[in-house]
Amino acid sequence: MAQIRVLRRMASILTTPLAPEDVLGLINPLSSSRQLRGVVTKVVRETPDSTTIHFRPGRGWNPHAAGQWARVGVEIDGVRHWRSYSLSAAAGHDPAITVTAIGVVSTALARDTKTGDILFLDTPQGDFTLPEHPRPLLMLTAGSGLTPVMSMIRTLVPRRPDADVVLIHSARTPADALFHDELLELADQFPGLTVKHWFTRDSGTDAPARRLDLSDATDLETLCPDWRDRAAYACGPAEFLDAATELWLRDGHDDTHENLTIERFAPALLPGTGGEGGLVTFEKSDKEVEVGGDVSLLDAGEGCGVVMPSGCRMGICRSCLTPLVAGKVRDLRTGEVHGDEGELIQTCVNAAAGPVHLDI
Ligand SMILES: Cc1cc2nc3c(=O)[nH]c(=O)nc-3n(C[C@H](O)[C@H](O)[C@H](O)COP(=O)(O)OP(=O)(O)OC[C@H]3O[C@@H](n4cnc5c(N)ncnc54)[C@H](O)[C@@H]3O)c2cc1C
Ligand code: FES
Repeated sequence: MAQIRVLRRMASILTTPLAPEDVLGLINPLSSSRQLRGVVTKVVRETPDSTTIHFRPGRGWNPHAAGQWARVGVEIDGVRHWRSYSLSAAAGHDPAITVTAIGVVSTALARDTKTGDILFLDTPQGDFTLPEHPRPLLMLTAGSGLTPVMSMIRTLVPRRPDADVVLIHSARTPADALFHDELLELADQFPGLTVKHWFTRDSGTDAPARRLDLSDATDLETLCPDWRDRAAYACGPAEFLDAATELWLRDGHDDTHENLTIERFAPALLPGTGGEGGLVTFEKSDKEVEVGGDVSLLDAGEGCGVVMPSGCRMGICRSCLTPLVAGKVRDLRTGEVHGDEGELIQTCVNAAAGPVHLDI
């Protein structure tokens, strides 16, 4: 402690006008007390599109529970962008994220990250986590939706001899299937895990490849006959999750809607909620842009170069709250039009409903 105090005093003498944290941050990039950071310790290419980034977080990080996610900030062309990523490592281990390249930020993370790089971080959060008491589980995942579930499997299966987990994972081809070999090895090693891969394009066998059909229970019953008796966790694209929700409500037991826990990577928007849109003025940034009624204020701002605060980009973390100066906005999840002067707007899930002025 005394050593740290001396270092701080020296830093403050040597570096004014820089704050001691800034200089200590140069000596040890994880030491900043202002912004939680992590150093990348290993990068593993999982599939042609996906990469696992292992990192050692600095001070301020709370250990994650299996299934939780964290905000990760990455600088591209001098601008820091925040996105959310599920932590794919087992609880109790150094964290890792597994990123599938889709857009600008994920592609930069998946393709360019190197060992020794610094990531900006926020502490883990989320309630897509394992049940407190052991129960038979069904994990239903597609594409990158496997990542939080992989953390659950890695945490639960090797530690609990009473684990009873069926994983149904849908991917385009075996080569696109995340953690494919590790899952098969775990299933070989631990009788409590059953893995069923479903390939939508190329199964590598003579069986015809097609989407997993959740419009009725036929596919599910073939893959996991006792699906109704299991606590189910689902993560994947919106249509996949919507179909699972409907199936559980329609064909499950009376209480099965409580038996399905869902994690979404993108907000559930109400189809056709977009209205007329309008001119959005970002007052402090001195920028304005005309946008359609289905474009979030967050996308509108970023699109014209405003540095917008953001996190989950789906209406759950509230990192994007921005004061409304004037105008009305439409909630893209519900269609509700609202907006009073000074109201804090979640820019990631609201769009302009006419001319809008934001205090940013
Ligand atoms: C709680 C949470 C956990 C997440 N965990 C992961 C994870 O473990 N691995 C991962 O790769 N991504 C994960 N995401 C998605 C991630 O935060 C980014 O949205 C994604 O990387 C795209 O960002 P981008 O900047 O590259 O593209 P953008 O330009 O921001 O987004 C492109 C479009 O892709 C949509 N999108 C986001 N995720 C997906 C997806 N998986 N499949 C198809 N479309 C998608 C977005 O809604 C947007 O419309 C998670 C998101 C949330 C909210
Ligand atoms: S970015 Fe998380 S609520 Fe808007």
